[in-house]
Amino acid sequence: MSRAACSVLIVFGVFVPALTAQVPASAPFNPQDCKTCHDPAVFERLERTHHAGMSRSCANCHGNVAEHAATGDPSLVVSFKSLQPKQQNDVCLSCHERGDQANWHGGMHDRRKLTCLTCHSVHSFESTDSQLRASSEQAVCYTCHANVRAQTMRTSHHPIREGKMGCADCHNPHGSPTPKMIRAASVNDQCFECHAEFRGPFLWEHAPVRENCVSCHNAHGSNHERLLVARQPFLCQRCHLATRHPGTLYDFRNSSRGPSPSNRAVERSCRNCHTQVHGSNHPSGAYLGR
Ligand code: HEC
Ligand code: HEC
Ligand code: HEC
Ligand code: HEC
Ligand code: HEC
Ligand code: HEC
Ligand code: HEC
Ligand code: HEC
Ligand code: HEC
Ligand code: HEC
Repeated sequence: MSRAACSVLIVFGVFVPALTAQVPASAPFNPQDCKTCHDPAVFERLERTHHAGMSRSCANCHGNVAEHAATGDPSLVVSFKSLQPKQQNDVCLSCHERGDQANWHGGMHDRRKLTCLTCHSVHSFESTDSQLRASSEQAVCYTCHANVRAQTMRTSHHPIREGKMGCADCHNPHGSPTPKMIRAASVNDQCFECHAEFRGPFLWEHAPVRENCVSCHNAHGSNHERLLVARQPFLCQRCHLATRHPGTLYDFRNSSRGPSPSNRAVERSCRNCHTQVHGSNHPSGAYLGR
């Protein structure tokens, strides 16, 4: 539901049909009454969030709270502890089914049985934004994706560990139609959002650049320069093996300290001549040399 539509529901206090199916209705009540029996910690953070201002208050998520407050009978309220993952998600999705959450169903995290409450909390969140269980977005992700954390610690990396970029700049953790939950329509479109100069079109395209930036770069980090997945000339030779000089086997003998240094292996290696690896606009740039 969009923000606008949601606030309309709140202003008029109309029941959300999908929600009433999931969470039972409640007679009017005063949320302050809940404090007589419940730990103040339950209210503390909630009261600083949008959820506190909603017209049906606690009843939006906990159901028949009026009768429960009158009797103290726990069986009358919806407790998230006793809900299945799907039921928990349904409560949240009854209001958050659009926008970033629109592709939740069938997304990788849904399929792996994560719930909204794996990453979020309504009453005891730690982050300043988005009510996350950990103090930052990355910390939430790293509880499961330790390998990605290790990648961001490599010498060449996107400024993720410096806190200038987050995982959600490129991924939608709620799912997306693109593989690997990439936000944009493709990996390349994602990269172009910040690196527009590589969008082209170029007079002379380099096929793997058109196809997928991650054929040469690791988006999270690498111990080679410029996030490259391999060192040159091996980076290029993973594909260019067949003909003449591209496929020559270069080793330590061809390095600047070896007996027969090669201009194809030293310094910038293949890029000594093929400077325009992302594509060339020069009329005679067919070999990506200018
Ligand atoms: C007369 C005391 C009393 C009042 C008033 C009261 N509760 Fe409770 N509530 C309990 C008891 C007892 C339990 C079961 C033990 C527990 O989980 O704390 C409970 C459990 C709950 C639970 C389930 C907690 C869980 O573990 O998931 C929710 C949700 C809840 N109450 C909401 C409310 C709301 C909302 C109000 C105010 C409208 C309210 N309660 C008022 C006594 C009360
Ligand atoms: C937007 C949905 C939502 C609203 C509104 C909401 N709760 Fe909750 N409540 C939850 C969820 C989800 C949990 C499970 C723990 C968590 O995520 O913080 C929970 C847990 C609880 C618990 C158990 C606490 C514990 O630590 O186990 C109590 C008690 C409770 N809520 C009371 C209330 C009261 C009282 C209100 C209204 C003032 C309220 N809730 C409003 C979603 C909600
Ligand atoms: C009755 C409607 C309703 C339900 C149910 C509901 N929310 Fe919300 N939620 C809202 C509204 C309204 C806002 C504020 C506007 C917005 O961000 O969409 C909000 C905001 C949020 C935010 C953003 C907070 C921020 O700082 O930007 C998160 C995260 C969130 N809800 C998570 C949940 C989770 C998790 C659940 C299920 C336990 C849940 N919501 C259930 C209505 C609801
Ligand atoms: C894997 C962790 C994760 C899960 C699972 C998750 N979220 Fe989020 N959510 C985040 C992160 C991180 C952000 C903040 C970055 C962003 O906006 O994407 C966020 C932001 C939000 C926001 C506020 C920003 C917005 O999109 O409007 C809402 C609302 C929200 N989530 C709802 C949900 C709901 C509902 C579910 C369950 C269907 C859910 N989330 C499941 C990690 C998660
Ligand atoms: C509770 C554990 C958990 C948390 C927390 C978590 N993930 Fe995941 N994530 C998984 C699992 C399980 C998979 C399935 C792939 C796998 O087995 O490695 C996955 C897959 C992914 C994928 C690949 C999707 C695909 O289609 O292959 C991305 C991207 C991802 N997560 C991003 C995130 C981000 C960003 C966050 C933090 C906002 C996050 N995850 C938090 C468990 C988690
Ligand atoms: C600059 C964009 C960008 C950022 C920032 C980013 N990722 Fe990724 N991520 C990608 C791309 C691109 C892929 C690979 C997609 C592919 O292989 O098609 C990927 C793949 C993944 C995968 C799947 C890995 C696998 O081997 O299948 C996970 C999990 C993941 N990212 C988690 C994260 C987490 C957690 C963060 C934050 C610490 C993060 N990403 C930050 C772009 C990014
Ligand atoms: C949200 C913006 C953003 C997105 C999306 C993004 N980048 Fe970056 N990229 C940056 C920033 C910021 C830097 C660091 C620039 C600096 O340090 O001067 C950077 C640096 C780089 C570098 C140079 C690293 C170095 O060691 O100098 C490469 C290569 C790179 N990005 C590739 C990619 C690829 C491939 C993608 C798509 C998977 C991508 N970027 C997506 C913002 C982004
Ligand atoms: C064929 C391998 C290859 C592919 C595919 C590739 N790159 Fe590169 N990229 C390189 C090499 C090699 C360098 C180092 C170039 C240099 O420093 O002159 C580089 C450097 C970069 C840099 C750093 C530029 C700078 O001036 O510091 C960025 C940003 C970048 N690439 C983005 C991208 C994007 C975006 C894509 C996808 C559209 C992409 N690359 C696809 C090989 C590739
Ligand atoms: C992922 C595979 C891949 C990688 C890695 C790769 N290339 Fe290519 N390259 C290609 C393909 C495919 C073509 C198009 C070949 C064709 O059209 O016959 C191409 C074309 C070229 C051409 C133009 C020659 C021609 O026949 O059109 C040059 C020059 C070139 N690559 C240099 C490089 C250099 C230098 C590197 C390393 C920085 C590199 N390539 C890395 C796949 C790759
Ligand atoms: C000293 C300059 C120079 C260096 C260094 C160099 N090349 Fe070339 N390359 C050329 C020139 C010039 C051509 C144009 C065709 C020709 O005359 O062989 C070419 C053509 C190519 C072609 C397309 C035609 C063919 O032979 O298949 C590819 C692919 C290529 N180079 C890849 C590489 C790779 C990979 C490396 C690094 C191992 C590399 N080049 C290093 C100058 C260089």
